[in-house]
Amino acid sequence: MLPLPRPVADGIDVLLDRTVAPGYTRIGPAVRRRLPTWPADPAPDALQGRTAVVTGATSGLGLATAEGLARLGADVVLVARDEEKGRRVLADLGGRLPAARLQLARCDVSDLDDVRRFAGELPEQVDAGRVDLLVHNAGAMPPTRTESPQGHELTMALHVLGPVLLTELLLPRLTGGRVVLVTSGGMYAQRLRDDDPEYRQGEYSPTTAYARSKRAQVELLPVLDQRWAGAGVSVHATHPGWADTPGVVESLPRFHRLTGPLLRDAESGADTTVWLCATEPVPTGAMLWHDRRPRPPHVLRRTRTGEEERARLWDWVRVQLDLPGP
Ligand SMILES: NC(=O)c1ccc[n+]([C@@H]2O[C@H](COP(=O)([O-])OP(=O)(O)OC[C@H]3O[C@@H](n4cnc5c(N)ncnc54)[C@H](OP(=O)(O)O)[C@@H]3O)[C@@H](O)[C@H]2O)c1
Repeated sequence: MLPLPRPVADGIDVLLDRTVAPGYTRIGPAVRRRLPTWPADPAPDALQGRTAVVTGATSGLGLATAEGLARLGADVVLVARDEEKGRRVLADLGGRLPAARLQLARCDVSDLDDVRRFAGELPEQVDAGRVDLLVHNAGAMPPTRTESPQGHELTMALHVLGPVLLTELLLPRLTGGRVVLVTSGGMYAQRLRDDDPEYRQGEYSPTTAYARSKRAQVELLPVLDQRWAGAGVSVHATHPGWADTPGVVESLPRFHRLTGPLLRDAESGADTTVWLCATEPVPTGAMLWHDRRPRPPHVLRRTRTGEEERARLWDWVRVQLDLPGP
């Protein structure tokens, strides 16, 4: 640990964040872990007796999150859209962690009917029908505008509609639990498009669609936290920085080639997700986190969102999911 006064350590942490590349790459955690402001690791058995559900657990950050949670003692349900791939990943992870209690479940999070089926079946699969930790990690960046089985633009379906619906349906099983949305620093470049949530206007850009849906996740945090607080459920978002995962290789090959050796590994990209699930006391809800510290939801004036826009987006989500108001 570097013997620095806390204000200096805070300054370094913020500087890393605002200069983007140094903070998002492997440099970020390498420096931050040496600062006196780096929060403590959770206790080794912090999640003993807890059940965690992780979507997108067959690859990259989701797999690293499942492993991190299992290492802290959680029973982990790995949610995969491809059952065959899920079985291979489960066998491999089980081989590495023989004492872990791991299960596999299938769900396409972008398909609202499949989310409903999954939410109905899951309680049968887990101890006492309870879920303590729900990690919405599944993500994708389709190269062309794609629609989900219900006709929603895919990134909004996968990153917003599916996760909100799954949480709503599991709410009675989640009492006292934590929900974590894995978002992206890419959302800093986009403002909320409550006027065009399905990306029907203008030419489609994969990175813009992806970043808009991730912006929507962050903008909904206060609404969701307030809505779910009645069930004792807190909601948190984290962005992983830039991590070397199959998703980045596939969706951003040029970025991957340019940044390759500087990218974090998946474990480091998943660190804050695992930490948010396990640290005590429960972190304040409705906040965006990166490298175990709260981060601002906006860094550019042009992306700032008013209450009205946020409320309009929430109304749209509620209507698509047929949820009771407000
Ligand atoms: N890596 C980064 O630098 C980075 C940066 C910012 C944000 N993120 C976010 O971190 C999360 C994980 O990304 P990653 O980099 O680990 O990507 P990844 O390697 O592509 O993993 C994505 C996971 O999501 C699953 N998935 C995709 N579509 C799905 C669907 N419709 N239903 C259920 N599961 C689905 C994938 O399943 P298959 O295995 O079947 O494909 C895979 O398990 C994503 O939300 C991503 O947006 C990553």
